[in-house]
Amino acid sequence: MEYLQIEGGRPLKGQVRIQGSKNAALPILAAAVLNPGKTILHRCPRIRDVEAMLDILKNLGCKVAWERDTVCIDARGLASYTISREHAKQMRSSITLLGSLLGRTGQAYIPYPGGCVIGERPIDLHIAGLKKMGVEFPESPEGVEARCSRLKGDRLVLGFPSVGATENLLQAAVLAEGTTWIFGAAREPEILELCRFLNSMGAKIAGAGTSRIRITGVKKLHDTEYTIAADRIVAGTYLCAAVACGGEAALLGAPVSHMQGMFPVFWKMGARLHLEGEALVIQAPGRCFGVSGIETLPYPGFPTDLQSPLMAALCRTRGMSSIRENIFEARFKIVEELRSMGARIRVEKNRAFIQGVENLQGGNLYARELRGGAALCVAAACAQGQSRIYDCRYILRGYENVTGDLKNLGIMVQ
Ligand code: EPZ
Repeated sequence: MEYLQIEGGRPLKGQVRIQGSKNAALPILAAAVLNPGKTILHRCPRIRDVEAMLDILKNLGCKVAWERDTVCIDARGLASYTISREHAKQMRSSITLLGSLLGRTGQAYIPYPGGCVIGERPIDLHIAGLKKMGVEFPESPEGVEARCSRLKGDRLVLGFPSVGATENLLQAAVLAEGTTWIFGAAREPEILELCRFLNSMGAKIAGAGTSRIRITGVKKLHDTEYTIAADRIVAGTYLCAAVACGGEAALLGAPVSHMQGMFPVFWKMGARLHLEGEALVIQAPGRCFGVSGIETLPYPGFPTDLQSPLMAALCRTRGMSSIRENIFEARFKIVEELRSMGARIRVEKNRAFIQGVENLQGGNLYARELRGGAALCVAAACAQGQSRIYDCRYILRGYENVTGDLKNLGIMVQ
């Protein structure tokens, strides 16, 4: 699919079921390696990043089988601890295999994940925590080489609540000797999901979802069957589409308890949100109000992954808006594309100031990364006329059925 074509300018009207969470599924798939047995995951999103992670697991010797949105991993045949360069390049989240490969085999080799469009993406916090647990990292020019005969629990402190570092340390700690504390842990729902999944395999984790997590090492883990929570960022993206276009949308199965940090922004924009059974329903006026002083923060603050879709929605609001991006240093890449549609945005370091305009104009747009691509869908949906979003493969990394979802919400897309 070379491009998505969207006829914009109509209010939303429809409903969509929210897929499983990409950022919960990826660390859970990595953690399945810890158990030399079978893991069954329900509501696993069939997206490119999940397919990439499953390719890596197969490459390591695991068996993988899909049945609708259920995936079964049999990790008994794990025969390697080395991730190939082409796989690591395909998806930087392969770094979350560091903790599980060390926990299962005592070794890991993962090519440096490197930066990406949104930022440098260092892994110093991962390495520092693992070193404290006894992991050695011999000099290796091309990648992270790690080995540890026996992981030892310790008191670990994260200077920043890194999601990935918390995930790696959790996976390394569940089979380690003794007790591990992680102070300053990330509190994202995806961490809670990972801890629940690990506990369902027999791990002993307390404090999940808080900044102080205690892991008591166990000797072994066992088979499990687990259902992944719905994706709060996908649900939030469609809330952004609603405030951008106006109208009404029902999000079936939206993880409302994981979305509290984003609701105040939509309320200030003039949207109304309520629950109808298992649906989160949003009703928005044709043109919402701008909001100033929005900050992306670690959970439970406004999520950085929703910053670009929200910026797109703020472009045609009444009045001024401002967003400060506090998590990634280069996450304003869609500003140029939005300006090409008539948006009025000024950027000063990590702050963007948006002067709402009556209408955006559709045009040829180019996605450069996942959430920026999703933001262009939001912009195209509320713009006058036709838009084509090229390089939409980036969007397919995290959105299982973006074309079908947008159609179900009443947006003309093909
Ligand atoms: C996860 O990335 C998510 N990815 C990201 O979603 C999300 O934006 C991010 O968490 C923050 O919520 C997955 O879960 C697969 P971090 P991660 O470690 O783990 C700095 C998406 O669109 N940092 O919390 O890489 C880092 O540079 C993706 O779905 C260090 O300095 O995020 C960044 O500025 C994008 N040293 C900040 O912390 C470290 O060792 C947040 O990074 C690690 C991180």
